[in-house]
Amino acid sequence: MAVTINTLRELKQKGEAFSALTSYDSTFAQVVSEAGVDVILIGDSLGMVLQGNDSTLPVTMEHMVYHTSCVAKGNKGSLIMADMPFMSYGTVADALDNAAELMRAGAHMVKLEGTDWMRDTIEALSERGVPVCAHLGLTPQFVNKFGGYKVQGRDDKAAEAMIEHACQLEAAGADIILLECVPAPLAARITQAVKAPVIGIGAGSDTDGQVLVLHDMLGVTPGRKPRFVKNFLAETSSIPEAIEAYAKAVKERTFPAEEHTFKA
Ligand code: KIV
Repeated sequence: MAVTINTLRELKQKGEAFSALTSYDSTFAQVVSEAGVDVILIGDSLGMVLQGNDSTLPVTMEHMVYHTSCVAKGNKGSLIMADMPFMSYGTVADALDNAAELMRAGAHMVKLEGTDWMRDTIEALSERGVPVCAHLGLTPQFVNKFGGYKVQGRDDKAAEAMIEHACQLEAAGADIILLECVPAPLAARITQAVKAPVIGIGAGSDTDGQVLVLHDMLGVTPGRKPRFVKNFLAETSSIPEAIEAYAKAVKERTFPAEEHTFKA
């Protein structure tokens, strides 16, 4: 049966973890969905892993629509989440037009990076039938404001602000919260504070779901491996097996382990 936003809500209520993984093309979308991964994210990480850029900022709506339509053709029942690229939701009007394009291309929901300033945008999208994931913590589109890719929410003030933002964005209509590179105790508090399912990446094992970038968990991303990444291909003998192992490890909460987690 196809995964919907209701499936994820039910899993949260039952305390069962769910998995998400990026895909950018039809073939991998089919492999990922057939491996039992609940959510496929067409991440703007494609700007780095497919296009070779050093950030996600060069990714355009045209790129996202193209890759979303490719993924939609291969998908076999996972929930498809598409990233809205840098500055495509700078105004509410832009957000509505651009989200509509992604939904027409086959997305079931869109993901936006930001904090309380996104309330009106999320409300407008939600009221018009577009489910939204609000991405908090290390939001890569803000790399130039952050001065690098750094763990967020480490001090008390930043942690309290993140909890408040998650609650505000849920109240505005966000259906999912995604936390990237956040200390595990803070991610656990946010997961408790909101009814919406919370997906984590580098956010510890207490979130409702986990997401990774496909190329990272297959161990093919060049350069330094971030702490929160595990190479599942190293322990298996094929890509489909590696993806199945990831989905199983998330479900059984054996991934992420201590070594993949930021404590504070
Ligand atoms: O673009 C992406 O792949 C993402 C994940 C890292 C969550 O936003």
